[in-house]
Amino acid sequence: MRFISSIREMQREADKLRGEGRRIGFVPTMGALHEGHLDLLRLCRAHCDVTVMSVFVNPTQFSANEAFGSYPRDLERDAGLAEAAGCDILFTPRAEEVYPAGYSTWVHEDTLSAELEGKSRPTHFRGVTTVVTKLFLMVKPHCAVFGQKDAQQAAIIRRMVRDLHFDIELLIAPIRREADGLAMSSRNMYLSESGRLEARALSRSLRLAEQFVAEGGRDTRVLRALVEEEITRSGAITLDYVALVDAETLGDRDMITNDPVLLAVAARVENTRLIDNTILRAETIES
Ligand code: PAJ
Repeated sequence: MRFISSIREMQREADKLRGEGRRIGFVPTMGALHEGHLDLLRLCRAHCDVTVMSVFVNPTQFSANEAFGSYPRDLERDAGLAEAAGCDILFTPRAEEVYPAGYSTWVHEDTLSAELEGKSRPTHFRGVTTVVTKLFLMVKPHCAVFGQKDAQQAAIIRRMVRDLHFDIELLIAPIRREADGLAMSSRNMYLSESGRLEARALSRSLRLAEQFVAEGGRDTRVLRALVEEEITRSGAITLDYVALVDAETLGDRDMITNDPVLLAVAARVENTRLIDNTILRAETIES
């Protein structure tokens, strides 16, 4: 595995690979790698000739009260995991180079970014779309992989790629979970033992929702109440939202139909904000 941290060197390498007719795949991350990230890498490898993973803790997607400074950083560990999973190039640009002194250019998606996570994190997605654009221009990938774990992020990147005509194929990898259902996240390490057990209510509520739909339930108001009740039952979790929205536009949905509905939940366990989601759709053709 090769290490690159200079932006210019990354761009020259991308030009060289493209010149050789090789297909570049890209997996952007903020490090603190777990099996979910490595799944993205494996999916990328299956679709491309050369796989680039970036590790960059992006300051502009954290708000002042979020833990940018204390975000877990362990490049040596990440490099070992990435290499073992088949990464070809580990790209670790420096913040001073990504955001040169006096930078004043942003990429802002206007509509989807204001929904769901955007309500409690109003500047978050502007940071994400800006850094992903920059990384795309540095790595020049043919294909890029994101995780369904961050369903809204994936929808926003999809919209941005369409709106800005990026010639990049997007792949979305399914959510990787712990054995007990909890979606893998670098934030899970902040939970105490009991918080970790309480957190299982999130994925449990999603499985209940899937069961409700499989048994013919269609009304999203009933579904929302069911999910809310499951998450708040123990009293240990503070719910932020339960959203039932169109998976592409993030607009509210009243009914489950054959078009995919995103059920997304966000909640606070101890001091840690967790998100999870599933896609629901009616399995039978409705008359
Ligand atoms: P990060 O949180 O490090 O996640 C990197 C990628 O891994 C994202 O596409 C995310 O959706 C995916 N991912 C995380 N946990 C996952 C899981 N349990 N299963 C499947 N995929 C999972 O998301 C970011 O970084 C940043 O916003 C970034 C896109 C890198 C821009 O800074």
